[in-house]
Amino acid sequence: MKHILSALLALVMIPALAACGDGQTPGAAAVTANEAVSTAAPSVDAASDTDVGTEETAPSGRKALVVYFSRTGEQYTVGVIDKGNTAVVAEMIAEKTGADLFEIVPADDHYPMTYAELTDVAKREQKEKARPAYKGTAPELSGYDTVFIGAPVWWGDWPMIMYTFFEQNRDALAGKTLIPFSTHEGSGLSGFDRKLGSAIPGATVERGLAVRGNDAQNSRAAVRDSVNGWLDGLGF
Ligand SMILES: Cc1cc2nc3c(=O)[nH]c(=O)nc-3n(C[C@H](O)[C@H](O)[C@H](O)COP(=O)(O)O)c2cc1C
Repeated sequence: MKHILSALLALVMIPALAACGDGQTPGAAAVTANEAVSTAAPSVDAASDTDVGTEETAPSGRKALVVYFSRTGEQYTVGVIDKGNTAVVAEMIAEKTGADLFEIVPADDHYPMTYAELTDVAKREQKEKARPAYKGTAPELSGYDTVFIGAPVWWGDWPMIMYTFFEQNRDALAGKTLIPFSTHEGSGLSGFDRKLGSAIPGATVERGLAVRGNDAQNSRAAVRDSVNGWLDGLGF
């Protein structure tokens, strides 16, 4: 019974989250656009709310790294998946740009594989401002001028483990170009760009991308087109 109630609560949670998070309406314009095209095209939008340095184009020949966090198991609207939604997008970015990939994997993987339980753990971590450790160390960042950073939106924010990455690599990331991307089910980019700029002062944050998790799983060709178009716009 407890699980059924948790699942029902989880199902109604997502729309509410679009208006919570850190007190702003996360990715409001992108979410509206997403909803408008959701039956005709995958819901992928380059966010326009970047306020920390947007470039129209970028020089070619940039050496890029893609850092991402993503979960398998049961996820919202897609059932049980063996490749996470954000992982799908991360790999598309790497394929188009030739970037290296670094996956943030929890050192102690305490995250449940069922959606309702995962939302509880994530909420608790957010409330406690937890900084869960991740396995290994990030690649030597001095070799990269651009770092794409992606994650699922969790309760209107980056998952707390991403803040662990930001804080542990703050100095190495300052001065670089950072490009955020999210997967989500309604909240868009959720201020990932602004929050990234705050977490890493001195970085230039370029135009991010928000992709519906369900589209990443089930409309891959169309999502790939959108990802490639976004990257073209960034000069990749
Ligand atoms: C703990 C948790 C919290 C979530 N919070 C939100 C949210 O606030 N807004 C939203 O649009 N989607 C939310 N989602 C849905 C995920 O962002 C979405 O399913 C995402 O594509 C999952 O990506 P992944 O497979 O790479 O982990 C949440 C999912 C989980 C598990």
